[in-house]
Order: sequence, then C-alpha cells, then structure tokens
Amino acid sequence: MFVRNTISAILFFLLSFQIFGTSARPSFSLAAKRSPSASSVAASLQYRTNAERMAAGLSPRAPTRVVGSGQLVPRNPNPSPISYSGTVKVKNASNNSNLGYIQKGLTGGGRFTISSLSSTAVVVSLSFVSSSSPLQLSINSNTPNWPYIGGAGATLQSNNNNRVSIVGTNSVPSGSTPQNVGNSSGSNGSESYIWKFNPNTNEITAEWVNPNGSTPAVYIYYSSSGANSGLHLSANSNLSGGYTRVRLYLS
Ligand SMILES: *[C@@H]1O[C@H](CO)[C@@H](O)[C@H](O)[C@H]1NC(C)=O
Ligand SMILES: *[C@@H]1O[C@H](CO)[C@@H](O)[C@H](O)[C@H]1NC(C)=O
Ligand SMILES: *[C@@H]1O[C@H](CO)[C@@H](O)[C@H](O)[C@H]1NC(C)=O
Ligand SMILES: *[C@@H]1O[C@H](CO)[C@@H](O)[C@H](O)[C@H]1NC(C)=O
Ligand SMILES: *[C@@H]1O[C@H](CO)[C@@H](O)[C@H](O)[C@H]1NC(C)=O
Ligand SMILES: *[C@@H]1O[C@H](CO)[C@@H](O)[C@H](O)[C@H]1NC(C)=O
Repeated sequence: MFVRNTISAILFFLLSFQIFGTSARPSFSLAAKRSPSASSVAASLQYRTNAERMAAGLSPRAPTRVVGSGQLVPRNPNPSPISYSGTVKVKNASNNSNLGYIQKGLTGGGRFTISSLSSTAVVVSLSFVSSSSPLQLSINSNTPNWPYIGGAGATLQSNNNNRVSIVGTNSVPSGSTPQNVGNSSGSNGSESYIWKFNPNTNEITAEWVNPNGSTPAVYIYYSSSGANSGLHLSANSNLSGGYTRVRLYLS
C-alpha cells in the first residue's frame, strides 16, 4: 500500500502539475487525489510487475521501496522456493497414454515402479526455484522407508544400455557424483538431486551426474517385468530390451 500511495502521490503531483501547470500552486483536493487516471495507472504499474512474477511461477513480490524520483529498487535476484506436492503420473512417451502412477511399494529389486491405482501412488513434494535448478522429490507417504526418490548407478552413455535404477535414497548434495549414502537397490552410489520441474506443464524431467562429472541428457524408462522391472534412467534415447520410454507429471 505504501508503494501504491507513494506512486499515486507522485503521479498525482505530476498530473496536477500538468493540469494546473499555469496556476501558481497545485491543488491537492481529496476528489482530485482519487482521480481514476492517476490511481489506475499506479495500480496497473503494480499489477504488471506481479503478473510477470505469476507468469514466472513466483509469488507476488513484497512492496518495493521507491528511491528518489520514482526509480524502483531492482527485484530480489534470489526468489524464495515454492512448494508443490502430489502424485506422479506416468505416461508412455511414444503415444502419450497413461500408464499409471509411481507407486509406494518397491519392486523386489528395490526400484520404484508403476501402479494403475492412484490409491497406492506415492505422494511426493518438491521445492521449486527455477526450471533449470535440480531438485529432490521428497517422499511424503509412510512407505518406502527412504526420504527421497533418487537414482542409483554409475556412468550413463548415449551409445550403450547402461542404466540407473530409480530408487529410494538418502540425500546427496546437488551437483554431486553418486555417493554411498544408503539406498534401496544395488551396490552402487546414489544421487537425490536428479529431477527438474516445469510448473507450466507439470512435467518432471531427470538429470544425472556421471562419476566423472559429465551430465549427459537422460531419459526415463519403464520395464514391466523380469529382474529389471521398474523405473530406470538411461542416456540412450532408444534403449533396447523391452523398456518403454516414459514421461512423468506431477498430478
Ligand atoms: C507404449 O506405446 C508403444 C507404442 O504405442 C507400445 O508399443 C508400448 O507397448 C507401450 N508401452 C507400454 C508399457 O504400454
Ligand atoms: C498406446 O499404446 C498402448 C500399448 O500399445 C495401447 O494400449 C494404447 O491404446 C495406445 N494409446 C494411444 C492413445 O494410442
Ligand atoms: C555399478 O558400478 C560398477 C562399477 O563402477 C559398474 O561396473 C556397474 O555397471 C554399475 N552398475 C549399475 C547398475 O550401474
Ligand atoms: C544401496 O542399497 C543396498 C540395499 O539396501 C545396499 O546393500 C547397498 O549397500 C547400498 N549402496 C550404497 C552405496 O549405499
Ligand atoms: C565422462 O565420461 C563420459 C562417458 O564415458 C565421456 O563421454 C566424457 O567424455 C567424460 N568426460 C570427461 C570430462 O572425462
Ligand atoms: C531403436 O532401436 C531399435 C532396435 O533396438 C531399432 O529397430 C530402431 O530403428 C531404433 N530407432 C531409432 C529411432 O533409432
């Protein structure tokens, strides 16, 4: 309100000056102060800025201080995170059909897999800062007994069939290579900051830091049966061996 009133006052002052430019002293009557032109200009100035923030997925900003002659202080370059939570819908990437939801229970191999029932879907939450910042998917459901949905494995390459299993894991710092922190599957290290989120489409995409620090483009796959049943990551865009490429959406 401070900003709006201040801007209104400044605009009114300028407006008054324009209207009463030839008179000796500007008039500040109450009626003139409520001048629709001045207040609507002030309101639209403020609204435009917040609309931009909303479009960018940010909360409305706190009132901005006005310094000097109507010059605005730059907006905070470090916006606060926004929390999202829900279930994770899985779609077949080749024809966009729904395959179900990531389910709470793990496979015998310790991987997350798909259930057609939303009632057995795992509930996750994430803390969004920007579409380019890796984030963790926190497990809100009681089971399984791990705090995050992450990946366990080693080097992914576009030209072979190496995979990383989607598992339950303890936290590993963002940008780190696989670490031995405890996970639900296999003997390799794991990572937890392997997800990115697009709040416009609700799509959750994956990334992976190889043991040598490289970050290949990775794809999410599903195998419905056998020893490798469940969800995986691969850097191979056309993984062979009965894997279906899938897309994930927070729902
Ligand atoms: C995904 O769609 C493709 C193409 O329609 C199909 O061949 C494949 O079996 C589907 N995968 C699953 C798991 O339904
Ligand atoms: C996608 O593929 C699956 C498996 O082949 C099939 O059952 C489903 O009908 C297909 N959906 C669409 C929208 O084509
Ligand atoms: C686990 O790590 C070993 C050694 O780096 C590697 O040979 C093996 O392929 C890895 N397993 C998986 C599933 O990535
Ligand atoms: C990953 O989890 C499996 C099964 O709980 C465990 O045997 C293994 O030691 C874990 N690996 C690491 C590197 O923490
Ligand atoms: C890391 O490993 C990948 C896969 O083997 C390889 O393509 C890449 O060149 C390596 N990068 C570095 C910096 O060693
Ligand atoms: C994907 O791999 C299969 C065999 O593994 C092959 O028949 C197909 O042509 C490949 N598709 C693309 C787009 O490379």
